Amino acid sequence: MPQQITIMGTGMVGGALDRYFQTQNIKANLYDPPKGLDDVSVLANADVIFIAVPTPYYLDGSGFDESFLRAAIEAIPNSGKTIVLKSTILPGITDRFQEEYPEHRFLFNPEFLTETTVDYDMAHPTRQIVGYTSQSRKDAELVMGLLPRAPFEKVVPAKTAELVKYFGNAFYALKVAYANQMFDLAEKLDLDYDLLKACVETEPMVGKTHLDIFHKGYRGYGGKCLPKDTRAIIQLAESAGIDLSLLKQAEAYNNALCEKQGLNIQWEEGSPKKDL
Ligand SMILES: NC(=O)c1ccc[n+]([C@@H]2O[C@H](COP(=O)([O-])OP(=O)(O)OC[C@H]3O[C@@H](n4cnc5c(N)ncnc54)[C@H](O)[C@@H]3O)[C@@H](O)[C@H]2O)c1
Repeated sequence: MPQQITIMGTGMVGGALDRYFQTQNIKANLYDPPKGLDDVSVLANADVIFIAVPTPYYLDGSGFDESFLRAAIEAIPNSGKTIVLKSTILPGITDRFQEEYPEHRFLFNPEFLTETTVDYDMAHPTRQIVGYTSQSRKDAELVMGLLPRAPFEKVVPAKTAELVKYFGNAFYALKVAYANQMFDLAEKLDLDYDLLKACVETEPMVGKTHLDIFHKGYRGYGGKCLPKDTRAIIQLAESAGIDLSLLKQAEAYNNALCEKQGLNIQWEEGSPKKDL
């Protein structure tokens, strides 16, 4: 009998996953109470539940917020589910949820889509990574089989999969900050940055992405993910006593750059109100 699938959280990520399943003639049920999708039977009847709810970072001192995820897990009325976390979460959280909710089996599957090319990215991933816990190793292949195929497919411990996502997003933030500083230098030297960029980006070791200086009309990194994910991984490193000073410098530079443009966009986009 085919697996019954439910998606909790039907925003950018969950919505794209649902549309992907539709292209495969797989009917996923949806659960998203803020959008009026609140039929608990779709949770009760599910075999596999994907969760793609917000994981904001709040600057009021409370930091990384896993409460949306926790609310989603606790809404599931019965036990024995394969739960695939797609929300971006700090390394260690999947294992911790596994311990706290032993009645389910947890996996983590990072999503790498970009907001401007959501459906294409969902359907054509460059890699598909499924992270497992001590209780969910056997479920990993099953879930990999439900997901879009990728040239690189790997089942890894959940903590590794969790850090893969931050490794990427923090690097993109660093790259945007670096490109902005190079832009300033180019301007000072009376150079055309676009010409410079065109010459540099053809080198695969540099790569084409995150070298644009203007994004949605402003300089610096912003949007829903890079600011919150950069801040969250800095928070984790600090609590672990690890020096992420390059990233901290990029963040301070980016904050100052945004401030100079009169922008306070940094965190709000990635931090929905807690009473969502
Ligand atoms: N947007 C991106 O490009 C992107 C890319 C990769 C990863 N992510 C990560 O994926 C996660 C979701 O991001 P998003 O952009 O899809 O968020 P989103 O705000 O677009 O969607 C989140 C959805 O979750 C719903 N929701 C909130 N609480 C819920 C609950 N208890 N039960 C069910 N649904 C609930 C909301 O109503 C909303 O529809 C975040 O952790 C984000 O960091 C986002």
